[in-house]
Amino acid sequence: MNRRLFALLLVIFPGIAFAAGGGYPLDHMTPNLDDKASLQRGAQTYMNYCLGCHSLQYQRYKRTADDLEIPEGLMLEHMVFDPNTKIGDLIENNMSKENAKFWFGAAPPDLTLHSNLKGGPDWLYTYLRTFYEDDSRPLGVNNLVFENVGMPHVLAGLQGRQVRPECMQVPRIASNGGVVRDPITIEIVTEEMCGTDLLDAGHYPLVKVEGTGSMSSDEYDTLVYDLANFMYYVGEPARMDRTRIGVYVLLFLAFFYVFALLLGREYEKEFHK
Ligand code: HEC
Repeated sequence: MNRRLFALLLVIFPGIAFAAGGGYPLDHMTPNLDDKASLQRGAQTYMNYCLGCHSLQYQRYKRTADDLEIPEGLMLEHMVFDPNTKIGDLIENNMSKENAKFWFGAAPPDLTLHSNLKGGPDWLYTYLRTFYEDDSRPLGVNNLVFENVGMPHVLAGLQGRQVRPECMQVPRIASNGGVVRDPITIEIVTEEMCGTDLLDAGHYPLVKVEGTGSMSSDEYDTLVYDLANFMYYVGEPARMDRTRIGVYVLLFLAFFYVFALLLGREYEKEFHK
């Protein structure tokens, strides 16, 4: 495509910039900022597993503690590992950009605003669940939504290892586009599909290696949900206030409406004399 036309299209439809990055369909998650327990668990996971590499340098511990209703003392005790850190500090780490670039090939970016980018919390939720083993990569892992990723699968101990099989059984599709079923047992008829045929048909199989990972897949999905929920909160903490203030604004408007109506009637009396 002509480059200028493409640039113009990017301005008009920013979505295509993201759509262009790999065809894997994102799994959906609905953030819930009222679920404080989920946000607290997400914050805990973040501090334990992510902060070592990814700072949240636009967010302070104090604000997080207040918004998530975590007592400040508990936060300092259980979520902050550096004893010199104060509750008013920004959530930073000590990783040097140069070293990180040398170790991973790319420096881990700050993630404060990440949930506002790249497909939002859905992207994070999917990304953290789609690491798979790939011996051709320096760290031995690859990712379905972030191809050739430079980040290790830091949650592998919880999720377990996943492999991407070359072939898998998929439902056979009839010429009318429907799924073929056995006429007697009405079970879905499957057939083996391999390699690029799988991708063309929209299948991206990931299979967990039995006996790896300390969590069941449901438990792991919940952990990642909470983490994505927390990162959604961090992306714009004011969102919490906004919904609360919004309710007051609507109540005020409803209240004010009565007086505006009465005042309007008074004025009407004047000019209908
Ligand atoms: C050992 C260091 C390390 C840890 C720990 C780590 N990451 Fe990463 N992460 C990286 C690196 C390096 C990249 C850059 C990868 C690249 O650009 O190829 C990255 C990239 C990312 C990205 C993509 C950023 C982008 O460019 O869009 C996200 C999101 C992310 N990490 C989230 C997390 C979360 C959530 C955790 C905690 C569960 C975590 N990371 C833990 C090193 C780390």
